[in-house]
Amino acid sequence: MYLGQSVSRRRFMGGAATALGYFGLKPGGNLWAENLGAASSPATQEALDEYDAFAKISFNENPEGPSPRMMDAINMAFKYSMRYGYPDGDIQNKIAEHHGVSPDNILMGAGSGEILEVVGLTYLEAGKKVVGVEPSYAQVYEHASGIKADAITLPLNEDYSQNIPAMIRATNQNYRDVGFVYMCNPNNPTGLTESAREIRQLLDGIPEDMPVLIDEAYHHFVDHPDYATSVPYVLEGRRVIIARTFSKIYGMAGLRLGYAVAPPEMVRAMDAYAVSSISAIAKWGGVAALEDKEEERRRRETTLALRRKTTAELRAYGYDVIPSETNFFMVHTGRPVEEVGAEFRKHGILVGRPFPPMLEHLRVSVGTEEEMDRFITAFREIFPATAAIGAFGD
Ligand SMILES: Cc1ncc(COP(=O)(O)O)c(C=O)c1O
Repeated sequence: MYLGQSVSRRRFMGGAATALGYFGLKPGGNLWAENLGAASSPATQEALDEYDAFAKISFNENPEGPSPRMMDAINMAFKYSMRYGYPDGDIQNKIAEHHGVSPDNILMGAGSGEILEVVGLTYLEAGKKVVGVEPSYAQVYEHASGIKADAITLPLNEDYSQNIPAMIRATNQNYRDVGFVYMCNPNNPTGLTESAREIRQLLDGIPEDMPVLIDEAYHHFVDHPDYATSVPYVLEGRRVIIARTFSKIYGMAGLRLGYAVAPPEMVRAMDAYAVSSISAIAKWGGVAALEDKEEERRRRETTLALRRKTTAELRAYGYDVIPSETNFFMVHTGRPVEEVGAEFRKHGILVGRPFPPMLEHLRVSVGTEEEMDRFITAFREIFPATAAIGAFGD
């Protein structure tokens, strides 16, 4: 099933369709099968070879995977595979130190997807609503529907930024029914950031006791001078939950590690719903990732350079690209993404799904250099050159 279902109060789906959409969207669910339009992912050698051969630029992963230093830690941690209790590298304290907060401010999750769901379970009872924009990271809205809560989704501005005044209005007008506000910054799928001033405007515009989930999955790639992490609001005592993941810059999407930074009373409330079933190898890989600042810097530079090169080529070829602050970008193709995705698949390339209502914008993740070359070559075969508008950086 294609998972780009729009979720709004008016168009809410129920029952099995919702459940399917929701499970399909779960990170760590079978996204491989979803991408290939298959019901399952058979473990035959042929199927594995087919998967390996694809250029995988659909899920905003890091094609490098864990760094050599992380792999050393991971390999070492295999000796704890048979244990329930074992030295875990002090991961929770290391994360707290990394942010200058107390360990009581940290809730660990098997990926930040777990954190997003725990926020839903904690702050959305049946009938309660999450307020956010569309398109954004739909798992949050799908999960709300899965637990019989609801979503108020607001359209983006014309420049694809998030409509902060509309979010404030919707929250205040529905105050009694709103369980939390969702702010994905930078936003997925647009790649755009909201400035520190806009986040302050949002927080100042809604009641102080309203929980706000700020999803900073792509924080590490941001270059924009007006952007800032919202972690300091936690120290100010605001009811904000910052979600972070090791799936993106650190290349651990398949290993599953993420966390929330939040006030201690919110961490305690959420802890009741958390499974936090994190493996020993993920914990040790995470510790090594946080310690290697130089590697993080290198990855960021590599990713941004490749994104700039690819988007400049697309613009020079005559196609608009939304200026991105992340490891992915959206190009306006002028054709339905569902159809375009099938064409790229024929070229051995997996690209992003449709994100309603932006049905002609294709989301492309920054993969390896070789994958991006394959993407550009295929793009030129699939789309005609249009009047060149010139290349400029993003
Ligand atoms: C904005 C955003 N938040 C959260 C996630 C979940 O990531 P994970 O569960 O792998 O940490 C993703 C994954 O793509 C994402 O794009």
